[in-house]
Amino acid sequence: MALASSTYDGSSGMPTHVAIIMDGNGRWAKARGLPRIEGHRKGVEAVRTATKTCMDLGVEYLTIYAFSAENWKRPLREVDDLMGLLRLYIRRELNELRRNGVQLRFIGDRSRLSNDIMKLLQEAETETAVNRRLIFTVAVNYGGRQEILEAVQGIARDAKDGALEPSDITEAVFERYLQSVDVPDPDLLIRTSGEQRLSNFLLWQSAYTELAFTSTLWPDFTRQCLEDAISDYQKRERRYGGTG
Ligand code: IPE
Ligand code: IPE
Ligand code: MG
Repeated sequence: MALASSTYDGSSGMPTHVAIIMDGNGRWAKARGLPRIEGHRKGVEAVRTATKTCMDLGVEYLTIYAFSAENWKRPLREVDDLMGLLRLYIRRELNELRRNGVQLRFIGDRSRLSNDIMKLLQEAETETAVNRRLIFTVAVNYGGRQEILEAVQGIARDAKDGALEPSDITEAVFERYLQSVDVPDPDLLIRTSGEQRLSNFLLWQSAYTELAFTSTLWPDFTRQCLEDAISDYQKRERRYGGTG
């Protein structure tokens, strides 16, 4: 199937920004009698496929949910495994991503991450900062509510300092305090594994995002799955409250 990579026209073109809640790694592993880490490992391969597909199709922004602010509730062993995979992914992929013109960004609260991972994230961002082909944001220890609260705190500080009047706080001003600053709202948000919820992902940004839910588990999410989701998105009419 050929997907037209036309200029985004707000309705039927290629989505400018695709966001993905990668879910179902654990169930993928369980169905095979494997430990959950094996599902996460296979999930990393699906991430590689997704970034390549986005680059080929001309999607300009890809944001993936790698670890939520609530995922600390998981057994310590699994949290360690997930952090280990993040470390491994960046170490192994950074060179190729940089060569391919990918700009890496991370959103989420880094203060709870280990020092070496914090350093690695910083390094990956610095080394890819000039790239523009694909802006690839990875959400790590991210929560939409936490992001909004932080923005509110920043605004309150600036208002207290006299740098901002309450009446100046428009949507555009508010967005400057979010971590996703300079990234357009997602056009399409995909969640795999059959769950139909946002789980605290991009709450502000997804106000008018088109949502796509698929029962496919993340490790099984192929290039074709992404193309199908985009092709379905292209058939939709985005109305933003208007009459279309
Ligand atoms: C998604 O897969 C990966 C992360 C949340 C980090 P899960 O680990 O949530 O897999 P399920 O939902 O248990 O199958
Ligand atoms: C959402 O998946 C978080 C990530 C994909 C990183 P979860 O599996 O943690 O979400 P819930 O708990 O089912 O809502
Ligand atoms: Mg899950």
